[in-house]
Amino acid sequence: MKFPSDFLWGVATSSYQIEGAVAEDGRGESIWDRFAAQPGKIKDGSSGAVACDHYHRYREDVGLMRELGVNAYRFSIAWPRVLPKGFGRVNDAGLDFYDKLVDELLKSKITPAVTLYHWDLPQALQDRGGWGHRDTAQAFAEFAQAVARRLGDRIPIWFTHNEMWCTAFLGHANDMYAPGYSNFALALQAAHHVLVSHGLAVPVLREECAKTANIGIAPNIAYPLPATDALSDAEAARRFDGFFNRWFLDPLAGKGYPQDMWECYKGYTPHIEDGDFQIIAAPLDFLGINYYNPDRIADDPAGVLPPYTRQIPDPTLKRTADREIYAPGLYESLTRLHRDYGFPAMYITENGAAYPDAVAEDGGVHDAERIAFLQAHFEQAARAIDAGVPLKGYFVWSLMDNFEWSQGYTLRYGLTYVDFATQQRIFKDSARWYREFIETQR
Ligand code: FCB
Repeated sequence: MKFPSDFLWGVATSSYQIEGAVAEDGRGESIWDRFAAQPGKIKDGSSGAVACDHYHRYREDVGLMRELGVNAYRFSIAWPRVLPKGFGRVNDAGLDFYDKLVDELLKSKITPAVTLYHWDLPQALQDRGGWGHRDTAQAFAEFAQAVARRLGDRIPIWFTHNEMWCTAFLGHANDMYAPGYSNFALALQAAHHVLVSHGLAVPVLREECAKTANIGIAPNIAYPLPATDALSDAEAARRFDGFFNRWFLDPLAGKGYPQDMWECYKGYTPHIEDGDFQIIAAPLDFLGINYYNPDRIADDPAGVLPPYTRQIPDPTLKRTADREIYAPGLYESLTRLHRDYGFPAMYITENGAAYPDAVAEDGGVHDAERIAFLQAHFEQAARAIDAGVPLKGYFVWSLMDNFEWSQGYTLRYGLTYVDFATQQRIFKDSARWYREFIETQR
């Protein structure tokens, strides 16, 4: 495997999953604080209140990155630290934290790549309707401006949103993520406002940031395969693709919502205002993708909600702790998205695996399966570059074990093991493997 010499080899995290310090320096409440406090929402009853205590240990954590040898770090900014009420008064103390983090990264020759929204909406905005309300899109543009005014001179890579599908559907249709609604029409309205918020933020970032800044977005994408040869399953896979991929990517690429899905969503379609599609289609410098697993899709004629599909497990595939493994899906997704949308560049903004890691008697964490997982996916990324995909970087999820949303601390996705009782960090074998891999690439 040979990657371009300027390729970004990075790791990724997000604010609520690692920072802790939820009540410090004027941070407002987020929807995840509220959600996690409700009994039964988080598998182990935990929350991100302490998480990896990264807020206090960020220097040590940048040190881990230096040791890893990565040249890029994707992290997110907690909106409630910057605007405790979601809009209006800017909390400088909250921005100070990211200011120091960015300087520490730059000192370490690590490129900071910032995600503005990785799911921690200020609760004050949720109280006014959250993503279901159009004003949240405007507030997001304010948030983007406050962050860019402070950091825009030093951040070369920006992602407006992480995984809009999860924000919309897991948060508003499935009650799996904050704010925890089960209302499909609300999910589609939220998705629309998220897309509008993206479109409003892009020109703000262009205005406030260095001219060389690259601006894009980081959706999770699906790789849907029909469960059988039946025409009905092929059509179901196509609908699932519309539900997961095209509903978001088509409008970003200036094509509006896909007609077949608009029909599929009959009875649930969102309210759209004149000019929204123009706003959403603000030109982007790149598309990021988060890829983890394939989806085998069957028709579900008895299904009550769009897209009227069922997910069928594939017993022939190996699994991580929580997902099926199918590395070629990464190649297929990259080449397909490049062919269909042709964004000027692409990044793999997340890819990684959870395993039930434990510290062995020799003090190490021997995660050979994660190494095999990463190696197989890196190979597919290299194949995609050979096939002409303008892939510029790869961010492994994650730098360290952290708060895995509704799964709490039961899933370990890190290259670094975290002992949450002591906050000790221990490199897993995969971290050493990644370090050597990066070294051979330079
Ligand atoms: C993605 C999220 C990320 C992390 C990984 C495992 O859906 O963006 O925060 O939870 O999955």
